[in-house]
Amino acid sequence: MKTLVIGANGQIGRQFCELAHHGGTPIRAMIRHPNQQPWFHERGIETVIADLEGDLRQAFNGCDQAVFTAGSGPHTGPDKTLLIDLYGAIRCIDLAVNASLERFIMVSALRASDPLAAPDKLRPYMAAKFAADAYLRSAKVPHVILKPGRLTDEAPTRQVSTSLAHAPDNTVSRGNVAHSLAYLVQARTLKNREFDLLDGDSSIAMALV
Ligand SMILES: NC(=O)c1ccc[n+]([C@@H]2O[C@H](COP(=O)([O-])OP(=O)(O)OC[C@H]3O[C@@H](n4cnc5c(N)ncnc54)[C@H](OP(=O)(O)O)[C@@H]3O)[C@@H](O)[C@H]2O)c1
Repeated sequence: MKTLVIGANGQIGRQFCELAHHGGTPIRAMIRHPNQQPWFHERGIETVIADLEGDLRQAFNGCDQAVFTAGSGPHTGPDKTLLIDLYGAIRCIDLAVNASLERFIMVSALRASDPLAAPDKLRPYMAAKFAADAYLRSAKVPHVILKPGRLTDEAPTRQVSTSLAHAPDNTVSRGNVAHSLAYLVQARTLKNREFDLLDGDSSIAMALV
């Protein structure tokens, strides 16, 4: 059985796909465009072409887990935040339930539980994450919700913290998020758990328990 990676061509997605593939986790990378395929095929990673605004059903065939690390990104407006970060996530969760997936692993965001605490510009995004997380918690699929802080492109240290109070600041490298996801897809006994994620000084296995 495979792990479907939604948002596989993203900055976290690509790093995660490489790590998971090397770690022996069978994955299927969901991407939007055929011209994104060569990067994956050169590494021996299976792809499926699908769009969160289109037909997604076939992407889930033969999968037993999904990782959602897609996002509309900072260069689009609240319309795409609604369609991708919220409704796209909801559609994937529904398909995961229909396909009886063992787990749905969501990349959410630190402080998504309190959208009005975010700066004005980020509030629609945080509200989308809040609602997607709430939908996942009540869905009939076991879940893990990972809530990274502000993402950076620092090299991964594989040392993290799940507590803002014990982290140096509110950031986490995309590499550390990718390593954490690679750990989570193999830690199959972790179900219905939520973790904040920041750069820190604990190993991922010690932090995500
Ligand atoms: N930025 C932050 O500080 C921050 C903090 C906490 C959490 N996050 C979360 O971290 C995750 C990913 O971060 P990242 O830096 O890897 O983002 P990224 O590089 O922008 O990757 C997002 C991916 O989503 C895909 N995507 C967008 N619209 C899609 C659609 N309609 N159908 C299918 N795929 C679609 C993109 O596809 P293309 O490659 O085709 O464009 C891209 O591969 C997101 O869930 C984001 O909400 C971000």
